[in-house]
Amino acid sequence: MADGAGVIEAVGDEVTDFAVGDHVVSTFFPTWLNGDPLNGDFSTVPGDGVDGYAREWVVAEATAFTRAPKGWSHAQAATLTTAGLTVWRALVVNGGLKAGETVLIQGTGGVSIFALQVAKALGATAILTSSSDDKLERARQLGADHLINYRREPEWAKPVLELTNGRGVDHVVEVGGPGTLAQSIQAARVAGHIALIGVLTGAAGPVPTAGLTVRQQRLQGLIVGSRQHQLDLVRALDVLPIRPVIDKTFPLADIADAFRVQQTGGHFGKICLEY
Ligand SMILES: NC(=O)c1ccc[n+]([C@@H]2O[C@H](COP(=O)([O-])OP(=O)(O)OC[C@H]3O[C@@H](n4cnc5c(N)ncnc54)[C@H](OP(=O)(O)O)[C@@H]3O)[C@@H](O)[C@H]2O)c1
Repeated sequence: MADGAGVIEAVGDEVTDFAVGDHVVSTFFPTWLNGDPLNGDFSTVPGDGVDGYAREWVVAEATAFTRAPKGWSHAQAATLTTAGLTVWRALVVNGGLKAGETVLIQGTGGVSIFALQVAKALGATAILTSSSDDKLERARQLGADHLINYRREPEWAKPVLELTNGRGVDHVVEVGGPGTLAQSIQAARVAGHIALIGVLTGAAGPVPTAGLTVRQQRLQGLIVGSRQHQLDLVRALDVLPIRPVIDKTFPLADIADAFRVQQTGGHFGKICLEY
């Protein structure tokens, strides 16, 4: 529960960023304000090293929050702390995504659906994989240009190369990890960028180093982003035509049910809790 959003009820004497009544969203790394990453672990992360947001009231330093995008609900804003900012860092901060580029997105979870929305909003072509034809159809309705069922096509790099006239994609949003990385290296273009985000298929495994080297690709591991990245993301979302896709919302008291739904993998986009 690193992700939380709500309204400011009171501020300390020296707080200048916020006023009572402001709508705010939590930051993943309250101590990483700007510049290069500071943290190689989760010791400062709410919900991990320190208490998270499965609660009604929070007292925390001002850097534990930024303002939320204008007009967003608290549930929508809460999707930004982890999934949203990770996508922004992968595609925009690290990837330098440009209109006209092609992005390969794996699956239809919280990170991937936001990646689809950002890619489309910034003028990219999106190729999306999923295990479910129903979810592929929902992704198409959100603007995905090309769809591949990775259960039927476990070697999905081949159709990706065909769709890109043999060139490969500019960016891969790699959420699978060891089970998908080999396909991602084949599917990305020479000198392409693979944002190594997730471990859905496991925490360790073989890496086809020769393929990565010969194709001269950039494999960039990342954990979410800085508070400044979040400020930039929120400013962008004030103008971009994006609203997060929330699959299901539970009352906070039913948090265990929410986690069970995520465990089944049946969701599309985010799962939220409301108090
Ligand atoms: N590095 C970071 O900063 C960071 C930040 C956020 C999340 N993460 C990690 O990123 C991963 C995704 O997070 P999430 O919140 O989006 O999870 P999630 O919502 O639970 O995503 C689950 C979805 O992933 C897809 N998936 C599973 N195995 C796949 C495979 N082999 N190939 C393609 N898609 C596959 C499935 O999509 P279909 O049902 O469509 O098949 C599944 O529904 C997790 O490992 C998470 O820990 C890392």
